[in-house]
Amino acid sequence: MTSLAVLLSSCCSLHWCHLNTQSLETKFRLYTDRTEESCLILFNQLETLDQCSFNASLPLVMIVHGWSVDGMLEGWIWKMAAALKSQHKQINVIIADWLTLAHQHYPIAVQNTRYIGQEIADFLEWLEESIQFSRSNVHLIGYSLGAHVSGFAGSYISGTNKLGRITGLDPAGPLFEGMSPTDRLSPDDANFVDAIHTFTKQHMGLSVGIKQPVAHFDFYPNGGTFQPGCHIMHMYNHIAQYGITGIAQTVKCAHERSVHLFIDSLLHQDKQSTAYWCNDISTFDRGMCLSCRKNRCNTLGYNIREQRLPKSRRLFLKTRAHMPFKVYHYQFKIHFINEIQEKQVDPTFTISLTGTKQDAKNLPITLVEGINGNKTYSFLITLDTDIGELIMIKFRWEGTAVWENIWDTVQTIIPWTKGTRRPGLIVKTIRVKAGETQQKMTFCSQSIDNIHLHPAQEKTFVRCEDPRTQKTTHQNTIHLVKHLKNTELFYTN
Ligand SMILES: *[C@@H]1O[C@H](CO)[C@@H](O)[C@H](O)[C@H]1NC(C)=O
Ligand SMILES: *[C@@H]1O[C@H](CO)[C@@H](O)[C@H](O)[C@H]1NC(C)=O
Repeated sequence: MTSLAVLLSSCCSLHWCHLNTQSLETKFRLYTDRTEESCLILFNQLETLDQCSFNASLPLVMIVHGWSVDGMLEGWIWKMAAALKSQHKQINVIIADWLTLAHQHYPIAVQNTRYIGQEIADFLEWLEESIQFSRSNVHLIGYSLGAHVSGFAGSYISGTNKLGRITGLDPAGPLFEGMSPTDRLSPDDANFVDAIHTFTKQHMGLSVGIKQPVAHFDFYPNGGTFQPGCHIMHMYNHIAQYGITGIAQTVKCAHERSVHLFIDSLLHQDKQSTAYWCNDISTFDRGMCLSCRKNRCNTLGYNIREQRLPKSRRLFLKTRAHMPFKVYHYQFKIHFINEIQEKQVDPTFTISLTGTKQDAKNLPITLVEGINGNKTYSFLITLDTDIGELIMIKFRWEGTAVWENIWDTVQTIIPWTKGTRRPGLIVKTIRVKAGETQQKMTFCSQSIDNIHLHPAQEKTFVRCEDPRTQKTTHQNTIHLVKHLKNTELFYTN
């Protein structure tokens, strides 16, 4: 507490400071439903609550902006306020405008986050004392430095009860990364804390967004380092869209993506993005983490399932480059037998999916490692659209004429003993798990007489029971499984 007192006094020496507690540095703007308009609620002036039509029987969402370069409220703030109101009419939306202290050199603005956190805590205590507005009905949404402001508000509010929820949108990294939980946003700051990390790419040892988990659920879209559509190459699109401010849009694109992912969750109720618990993005990219058992997955954004767990959970997901951001995640597990044991095959495959609603054609598959021997490979495929239930898979080895030649050469070098049949890859089954539906499916080669795949060839796989579990229900499948077993015997003997 002493450190805070020192901080507050140093703050007073830097800025004009109202020792009169009636006035705060932060402007609390109640969003009025009209475009880019707000009504000022003044601390300790009850009549302003009525004048602004603050409805004490409805929850409060407070938007807290971050560091400001130009001293103006950024466009996303109004978009967020409008999205909250359009989807949840039964809500009060306040914008905590701390521009005067945010429009400073970064380290100064960082110092000011504690000060503003204290002011927000004071404001919420006043609401509680004057109109019995419970802090458990408060949801703070803080972007960048605003995420830490929200954290400080949650930890400075007096009493034992906590704020309802804090959402940190790409919480700022510099001067917060690696700090103790009391010096940054942390899970203790509210009953429930969630965070979305979108720009944690390191540059000279620093990253704009904080990398470490700071919440109960920490979301890392696309791994959290950078976001699709934010590459410098897209600057021209941004300039076309925003004019010359498009350059600034490119710079903060990945950082601000956290905000637009959250807005997306409000605007597209039917396109909620699911994220999955995983150790790291490379494991996720192999499709290994699509489980929803025991809180292993959750919904990104406003509609998250508020579940307190003893430890932070890092959740991963892929997204599109623009709204609606949702993609559908699938794990594919393919068992390959490479008949030329002496040679590692390094092929390119494409996969085409037929669903009950739609098709998805020619999706490229990149295997991290070449195909060697006899092994199961697992990878992640994401689709932009909902194809419905998967019913058929076409699997193609993208071979060129050159490849064919090499392949034929290989065959002449390595004598093949099984009659006239050329060696190739054997793909017997493809196992698929759909993250969004949690459905597991097995697909078997349609042409059971020829399970060999060669360059420039395509094979069709249809739904079948998993031959390993042999949970066979109808005759066709039994037949198919038997047939497969025989074929395997034939080829492996
Ligand atoms: C406040 O919200 C409640 C619940 O929706 C509603 O019944 C009431 O009329 C509102 N009060 C005012 C003053 O708008
Ligand atoms: C592939 O490996 C499995 C298990 O390790 C084994 O049962 C099978 O016989 C092998 N098949 C071939 C063709 O090597």
